[in-house]
Order: sequence, then C-alpha cells, then structure tokens
Amino acid sequence: MTHIVLLHGYPLDESAFAGVADLVDPSHTVHAVDLAGFGAAPWPSDGDLSMSAQADHVFRQMDGLGVDAAVVVGLSMGGYVALAMAERQPDRVRALGLVGSKPDADSDEGKAGRDNQAETVVEQGAGVLVAPMSAALLSEDASLSVRARLRTMIERTRAETYVSALEGMRDRPDRGDVVASFDGPIGILVGTSDPIVSPDRAHEVAASAQDAFVVVLDGVGHLVPMEAPAATAEFINDLAQRV
Ligand code: MLT
Repeated sequence: MTHIVLLHGYPLDESAFAGVADLVDPSHTVHAVDLAGFGAAPWPSDGDLSMSAQADHVFRQMDGLGVDAAVVVGLSMGGYVALAMAERQPDRVRALGLVGSKPDADSDEGKAGRDNQAETVVEQGAGVLVAPMSAALLSEDASLSVRARLRTMIERTRAETYVSALEGMRDRPDRGDVVASFDGPIGILVGTSDPIVSPDRAHEVAASAQDAFVVVLDGVGHLVPMEAPAATAEFINDLAQRV
C-alpha cells in the first residue's frame, strides 16, 4: 500500500484537495494535511512557519499516522514544503509531486512583494486579498463554487499565519539541488494559465532531475487541484505508480 501525503498551498488548507482524494486509486491511502497554522492545525508555539519547520510538522503528522514514507504531493507552497522534506529526510519521500510549484527562491522583487502583502493583511485584513488573489490564482473559467471556496479560505486564515508564512516563503532557499539529487520519481503538474510557474519552467526543472515527467493542463490556473481535481488525481496515480 502506498501512502500519499497532500500538502496545500498558501493561504489555503487541506480542503484545497477536496474532490481529489476520492478519485485517487483506492489501493493508496491519502492523507491531506493542514500545514502548521493553517486550517484546523494549531498555531505552533515557536510561531515558525518556515518551509523547513513545516517539513518537520508534516513528518510529525506522518509519525502520528504511523507512516514511515510517502509519495508527497505539494501545491505551490506545499511543493516548497515537499522539497524541504526531501532535503531533510529523503528516505521518507518516495516520490515528489510539484503542483504549480518550483524549487526557485524568491527574486528581490518577489521578497518585497511578500513584505507588502504581510503589511496589507495586518493593516487592512485578509479580505482585501480576495479579489487580487482570485484574479491571479484562478483561471477565467474557474467556477463560482471554486471562487467561493478560495474566498472562504483566504478570509479564515489568521493574520499571524499570513505574516509568518510570507516570511517563510520569502526566506526559503533555492532547492534546485534537492531536485537534482532526489533519486525517486518527480512529477510536475502545471496549468497554462498559472502566472507563478510556466510550462517552460516546469520542463526546465524536470530536465534537471534524474527521473521526472511534466503534465500541462490547458487553460487551468495556479490552483490546479481546485480547478481540475480529476486531472490532479490522475497525475497522483501516475506518480504513485512509478515508485
Ligand atoms: C501558493 O499558492 O502557495 C502561493 O501562491 C505560493 C507563492 O506565493 O509562492
């Protein structure tokens, strides 16, 4: 039996994968987890939501579930965490799935954008992010129910989670070396309407890996599991079959 751990993006929670787990091959066991500070997960006592701290948080969850090693699939920030897991305890990551995600560190402009967004949330509340984030992260074709789910997640994420997660993403190192040295299969899933990871970048990242494949979804935005749950499940099945 293969365990599959699903890691959501920012500022989401495990429900970003609603509708995916049911479509994954029933011979696998799927664990969609809330990253520390998100969804129902408690605020960590040290307030550290860096990618490495999140990786350790997921390992602790795996320990609690009795899962020694898993196929780890991360959406965007979840992919940054999956890469940190592969860096810290590669033996516990049987395969890596990067969905709308890449190993690159933030550019200087990107880092400044993180600080601006943290300030905005603290001063004006997360509600002001709904319109710009929906426009950036979803394709024009995203359904009303997907838009409503995204709004709910943005609005219920705590201000301190925004601040600490933005800091964690801002300060994450480039993990291209993790992609290159990882000796299991890597799958990369990206939509053509994703402004954060282009299909070209996905192919470049795959070319730097030992064993990788890329799936490109036409017209899908950044939040692939929300817009295309069936295609996401198919991608996960394909990845899990390679371990
Ligand atoms: C996400 O979806 O997790 C974020 O867009 C990631 C990022 O901002 O780098």
